[in-house]
Order: sequence, then C-alpha cells, then structure tokens
Amino acid sequence: MVIDIRPLVIPVPGFLLFSCIIMYLCYSFCMNIFELVTKNRSYRRFQQSEPVSMQQLRNLVDLARLSPSAGNLQPLKFILSNDPRRNEAIFSCLTWESYIKDSPGPNEGKRPAAYIVTLGDTSITKDFGCNHGIAAQSILLGATEMGFGGCMIANIQRGRLATLLGIPERYQILLAIALGKPKEQVVITDVKDGDIKYWRDTGQVHYVPKRTLDEIILDL
Ligand SMILES: Cc1cc2nc3c(=O)[nH]c(=O)nc-3n(C[C@H](O)[C@H](O)[C@H](O)COP(=O)(O)O)c2cc1C
Repeated sequence: MVIDIRPLVIPVPGFLLFSCIIMYLCYSFCMNIFELVTKNRSYRRFQQSEPVSMQQLRNLVDLARLSPSAGNLQPLKFILSNDPRRNEAIFSCLTWESYIKDSPGPNEGKRPAAYIVTLGDTSITKDFGCNHGIAAQSILLGATEMGFGGCMIANIQRGRLATLLGIPERYQILLAIALGKPKEQVVITDVKDGDIKYWRDTGQVHYVPKRTLDEIILDL
C-alpha cells in the first residue's frame, strides 16, 4: 500500500516560513537596551486624555520593587495617581523645566495622565541614597517599553504635597514621576562651549545637550 504523505509534508515549509516572519517581526519591534535608554527622554508634554491604568502603574512599581536597593532595605513606598483631581493636586506642587525662562510647564490638555510619587519610609532608614533614582529609572524604562514616557521631578513643594495627599510624617517625599503618552519631540545634541542647559526652538522641539563620551571617560 502506498501512503500519500504530501498533505503532511507540504505545510511544514509554510509553517517554518511563517515562524521566521513572526520571529523577525518580534525582533524588529523589540528595542534593545541602547534604543530603550535613548528613547527614554524626560518628556513634559503629554496627551492628557490618553490614560495610564492602575494596573499599568502597578506593573511599573513592580519594576521598582525588583530593582537594586542598598543593603536590600527596600525603604521606598509609592503613591499612584491616575485620577484627574489627584493629578491636579500633584501638578500644582511641581516645578517644570526651570532652564526654560518663565515656563509654566505643560498647559491643561498636555499634562501627565498619571504620577508615581516616590517616598522614603524613615522608619526603615533615614538615608535613601540613590535608591529612588534607580527605582525611577526602572519605572521610566518600563514606561518607555509600554509606549509611555515621563519625567522625574525632584523640584517639589514637599510640605504642600504632603498636606494635599495626606502623607504621614514618617514618609519623606523623594521624587514625583510624571507619566503619560508623550506629545513632544525631544532631541539629543552635543554640549557646546560647556552649556548643558536644555532649550526649546520656536516649533517647541526640546533639545537636550549631552556631554560627549570623550569628555566623561577620564584617561587617567
Ligand atoms: C533626580 C532628577 C530630578 C529631576 N527633577 C526635575 C524637575 O524638578 N523638573 C523638571 O522639569 N525636570 C527634572 N528632571 C529632568 C532633567 O531635567 C532631565 O533629566 C535633563 O534635562 C536631561 O534630559 P533627559 O532626561 O531627556 O536626558 C530631573 C531629573 C533627575 C534625574
């Protein structure tokens, strides 16, 4: 008896080709670490109506939770906000882009859709070192991968924010991380004549001068 195996064999090359295309697409759409870090700029203008869900904020805090912590003390706590009234309260306590003269920060409609306020729990330690910076970078890289963007804000009216959010005294306000769908173009340039101040052109493109590798790697 002759068994016709063609129906079994013919789909195999098709399946392999299909798998290769899917793998190629996955590879092309995934950012490598250099692309992710480069795309993760400080964004200060957002599509305010584009929401960031509570689950997405929790997933971002999970990245902070998994990040390194000095002495593994894990003294950071986080307040999440994606509610317009709470966002407004937080926004009113922040200072935006101080190098840009007389900037009031983003106008209504271009403000962050969410915030993660990072606190230090002084009942665990009084010295938070660089823990919150590391946590914030993990959060922002995760946000970038999700298609969001944001900005770390340390220039905060802390007393006022503590009152508005009802933050107990044992917590020190360390950073606010603004989040949302970016609605601005940020361009990296080289530092010229030592001037590190970011600036905006008339089309509202935001330029960020970075020192060159040769300047920051010391040949000692
Ligand atoms: C610890 C820290 C605090 C910051 N605080 C503020 C702030 O209060 N307000 C603000 O508009 N940007 C703030 N930024 C954003 C910086 O201005 C921004 O990182 C810098 O201009 C470089 O731009 P880039 O993040 O796109 O590289 C802060 C950044 C860091 C790392």
